[in-house]
Amino acid sequence: MKRIKIAIDGPAGSGKTTTAKIVAEKLGYIYIDTGAMYRAVTLAWLRSGTELNDTNLCKLINEISVYIHNTSIGQRTFLNGVDVSDDIRLPEVTKNVSPVSAVGCVREKLVAMQRELGKNGAVVLDGRDIGTVVFPDAELKIFLIANENARAERRTKELREKGIELTVEEIKQQIVARDNYDSQRSISPLRKADDAIEIDTSNLTIQQQSDLIIDLANKIIGE
Ligand code: CDP
Repeated sequence: MKRIKIAIDGPAGSGKTTTAKIVAEKLGYIYIDTGAMYRAVTLAWLRSGTELNDTNLCKLINEISVYIHNTSIGQRTFLNGVDVSDDIRLPEVTKNVSPVSAVGCVREKLVAMQRELGKNGAVVLDGRDIGTVVFPDAELKIFLIANENARAERRTKELREKGIELTVEEIKQQIVARDNYDSQRSISPLRKADDAIEIDTSNLTIQQQSDLIIDLANKIIGE
């Protein structure tokens, strides 16, 4: 059996994380949430109380430890040995994650970790640059998109379930701002790899979009 790498990229709220988890579970693959790593670095920076610039970020990235760990209650993210899986979803982190992720030395360190984690295949990674930079040789590349309203509504619901109340309009503004920042940064901008398959999830359920990807993966695995 081939142990392939599956890259799932796309803008905020397109359903990457939920889909990637389902696909990985179905195939018995490891799931790697690369956004969680960038969020953990952002949390560390917020706690450092320093100004956001390359010098401070490059110093910080060498002083902290970030890792993800699969547990019986799902994938958890650790910062300096402490589980920060809930804290990294706080609005303050979301607000600052794009500028932190645009810093070269932050990306270098996290991309190296992601390549190490995924090097043996049988992995599903979700992020912004998996198909273009982290694993340009991934056997299956998916680019998930959805219209802004659908993405904002999904994210509002998700946050509400965690007790964070923001309006759909507020979330929509944040999503658009983050997409612009992520697409326009000079290093590893968010973009569809030439050989990625684009799936518009605006009118699909999570199960439908996951099934589409599982079918595509099974075809490649079975070849
Ligand atoms: O889940 P959501 O789409 O809101 O975002 P995420 O996957 O948790 O990623 C948060 C942020 O991390 C993104 O807006 C990017 O700025 C950054 N990121 C990145 O630059 N490269 C990745 N491979 C993953 C995330």
